[in-house]
Amino acid sequence: MAVSSIQALVGLLSLAHSVTSMTLRPRSITPPAGCPIPTWTVDNFKLFNGSHSLDCVHNQADIDTKGCLCTGAGHWCPPVEATCNGSWVNVCWTGMPNYAPWGYGPPETLDIDFADGLQCHDQYIGYRVHDIGNGASNCGYADRGQGRIVSFYGSSHQAQSVGHMDYILGSGHALKCDNGSLITYSGSVDFPLTCTYDAYRNATCTAPVFDIPVLDYQWVSS
Ligand SMILES: *[C@@H]1O[C@H](CO)[C@@H](O)[C@H](O)[C@H]1NC(C)=O
Ligand SMILES: *[C@@H]1O[C@H](CO)[C@@H](O)[C@H](O)[C@H]1NC(C)=O
Ligand SMILES: *[C@@H]1O[C@H](CO)[C@@H](O)[C@H](O)[C@H]1NC(C)=O
Ligand SMILES: *[C@@H]1O[C@H](CO)[C@@H](O)[C@H](O)[C@H]1NC(C)=O
Repeated sequence: MAVSSIQALVGLLSLAHSVTSMTLRPRSITPPAGCPIPTWTVDNFKLFNGSHSLDCVHNQADIDTKGCLCTGAGHWCPPVEATCNGSWVNVCWTGMPNYAPWGYGPPETLDIDFADGLQCHDQYIGYRVHDIGNGASNCGYADRGQGRIVSFYGSSHQAQSVGHMDYILGSGHALKCDNGSLITYSGSVDFPLTCTYDAYRNATCTAPVFDIPVLDYQWVSS
């Protein structure tokens, strides 16, 4: 091993040592010659999990709860079956976009905004929901059709924890190399997640601006 690379290695190790309280950030790969490589910078991350957010994935009591969806729809009425003149339904079974049934607080939301303009937004909406914090987020249907998947893994239960994000660019967003070949990329990263809790125990979690390093590539046949 050349002296300079040993020095580089020692430098790297001491750097790693000095940031033991932080997560290690891998660096992006070098793309094949003549191919562009994307930069994925998350410049706004926000997870809101209310103490009374409806949870149709993990909470059996919520899954079993019924409510009165009023005639004319669009809103919930007092959950009394005898006086309900609309539909008496499981609160988790409707596809109501504004999902805060009677007795529930604001819904859980997730926002992942990228410096390049991509915005992923999830809002809890009953049965159609992504399991926020356990995988794919919603960056729009058009984007999903192109094969892009931005996934977030993390929890709103600790004031300080480590979140994880995976990014798959998808073949529909393939980039063109100088020789005309099409290439697509994926990456992932761990990042520090900080949650604060208000007087009602609603959690709001944020992260500093961070990059998702590109760690792999795939050729796309045209
Ligand atoms: C284009 O360039 C890439 C990277 O140098 C190479 O791997 C690939 O085989 C090339 N494609 C063609 C069709 O020559
Ligand atoms: C029942 O329906 C009437 C008229 O459609 C409405 O004014 C009233 O608020 C409804 N009551 C409940 C409990 O939904
Ligand atoms: C916090 O939770 C309470 C109770 O569910 C709710 O009324 C309030 O709107 C929530 N706060 C925010 C900022 O959403
Ligand atoms: C949001 O809160 C619910 C209820 O406490 C919990 O089951 C769920 O895991 C939380 N979501 C995240 C992303 O931590």
